[in-house]
Amino acid sequence: MEFKDHLKSSVDIVSVVGEYVRLQKAGSQAYKGLCPFHNEKTPSFNVHVTKQFFKCFSCGAGGDVFEFVMKIEGISFYEALKSLAEKNGIPMPKRSIVADEDSKLREAVFHMHELAQESFRASLKEPVGEAARAYLVRRGVASETVEQFGLGYSDRSGRTFLRLFEQHRFTAAQIEESGLVRKRDDGTFYDYFRNRLMFPIHNESGKIVGFGGRALSADDNPKYLNSPETPIYKKSRLLYNLHRAKEAIRKEDQAILVEGYMDAIGVTAAGFRGVVASCGTSLTTDQVKALKRFSPRIVVNFDPDAAGARAAETSIALLLEEDMQVRIMELDGGLDPDEYCKERGAEAYQERLHVAKGYFYWLADRARKKYDMHTSEGVVAMLKFLMPAVQRVSDKLERMAIANDLAGYIGVERGLVLDSFRKAISERQESTFQRPKIEIRPDERVLLNAVLSGDEISGEIVRELRSIDTVERFTSRRIFHAVFAIEAAGEPLSFDQVNARLEEADRHLLAEAVLREDVQFSREEVLAAIESMRRSETQNQRVQLKTRIKESERGGRWEEALRLTSELQQLERAGRERR
Ligand code: UTP
Ligand code: MN
Repeated sequence: MEFKDHLKSSVDIVSVVGEYVRLQKAGSQAYKGLCPFHNEKTPSFNVHVTKQFFKCFSCGAGGDVFEFVMKIEGISFYEALKSLAEKNGIPMPKRSIVADEDSKLREAVFHMHELAQESFRASLKEPVGEAARAYLVRRGVASETVEQFGLGYSDRSGRTFLRLFEQHRFTAAQIEESGLVRKRDDGTFYDYFRNRLMFPIHNESGKIVGFGGRALSADDNPKYLNSPETPIYKKSRLLYNLHRAKEAIRKEDQAILVEGYMDAIGVTAAGFRGVVASCGTSLTTDQVKALKRFSPRIVVNFDPDAAGARAAETSIALLLEEDMQVRIMELDGGLDPDEYCKERGAEAYQERLHVAKGYFYWLADRARKKYDMHTSEGVVAMLKFLMPAVQRVSDKLERMAIANDLAGYIGVERGLVLDSFRKAISERQESTFQRPKIEIRPDERVLLNAVLSGDEISGEIVRELRSIDTVERFTSRRIFHAVFAIEAAGEPLSFDQVNARLEEADRHLLAEAVLREDVQFSREEVLAAIESMRRSETQNQRVQLKTRIKESERGGRWEEALRLTSELQQLERAGRERR
């Protein structure tokens, strides 16, 4: 067996997909969830338990476990194979699988990040790390937290990594791409991070892809120095702490979004595990999509300054675009989330979390401060300010309910302005995208499932089907052709085998046939289905022959009529014998 097949048979696609998508059981053979590859509100994403594939009936994405990992992580086949093998403790054969150049480079950069992390962590414990350790104590970061988040220290020398990476035989080109060193004009390298408290940044599967380095004193600028984008670090896709937080987000069905590394760490340390940070950059659609796979509910908890409020406002728009349910959490006393947890305690933070307002009430509060509600201009301006946000809610009824709630909350007269506000909100352009549906007949589905059941009967069924012309009129005929070809070649019939021989459109049909059929049919039932197909086929032929006989007689072509009549008799005799 090829390594790929061996690995595939030892991992379970349901649990692999389940790491990224909330799945629910749907029938005995399938799980359902919201598609991670497009925006949807009702689940059309399916995972088949025994046939080990996924399929979205809305956007069409589908494939096996490798294709899923490649697509969701944006990595190559080789990397998907490697990552699944590592996670399942199955050793990769050294020779047989060749990595492409890009994968090799990324593998090297990942490795350099692991080495860098070891070095940073060691330095924090050594005498050079004295000032950084003191800083952590001053900020009230417990040593378990330091361990949990893998905090470290980059020394002042600037000469640590070049030597280390050369010892490990990385090429100059690889070292330069790592983002961990910088090139001087004379071509020599020096460490990118020097004398900073180091925060490792992990991707969703828990591998280190970059670092944030905090200055230890206020006169060292910038306050945070972050890894540049590298072949393994795409900032727009990453949320700090997501790999640790995702289980809690899923369980509690809610994520907390903060701005800073220290906030994510402080809030987690206070016992709120479902927290992620956007790391000071504005939130992106990809980040929201990643969160949404675990929960559609989010509480935005930004810094209590003007910049934080502005960032929250921008984030709301983006979150609503992705149909997230957004609440805004406000902290008093000018404290940021980390400080709040430390000064007021977990219970106080829990209380603020509990009373966090729906985003539109928060926006209304903000608007109230901005505009004078006693003038009609003020009211108009305010509604204009609120309109875009409400407009982004994709469900019409929900949108209308919010418009009404807001009207009440703002307390403006239910006059003309309000009506036009409601009207604008009810008339949003709806965009509905639907794939054209190709239907597959129920008897085709039964037969396909029986053929792929892996039972003894599949061979028998295939042989029966070969002699039935009706198959040629099936929507799924090309799938049956593949089945016939596999059987003729004496290969085992399996979903993967058949699927591998199909074009995209037929793969879609096959997935549908397999996912829609939840019951297992007995041998008798399947054979009965074939028999009835054969009978209706004979019936058709009989009707056709009779018509042609009549036509020949009418045209005086007696010889032809005679020949057709004997054909008809033969057909009827054959039919009687079978019964
Ligand atoms: P903050 O200045 O709020 O930092 O910036 P913080 O995380 O709360 O850290 P402390 O508590 O002051 O030590 C929020 C985030 O913005 C990014 C970092 O990701 C930071 O965590 N940032 C900030 C930068 O990337 N560079 C900077 O110079 C400042
Ligand atoms: Mn902060």
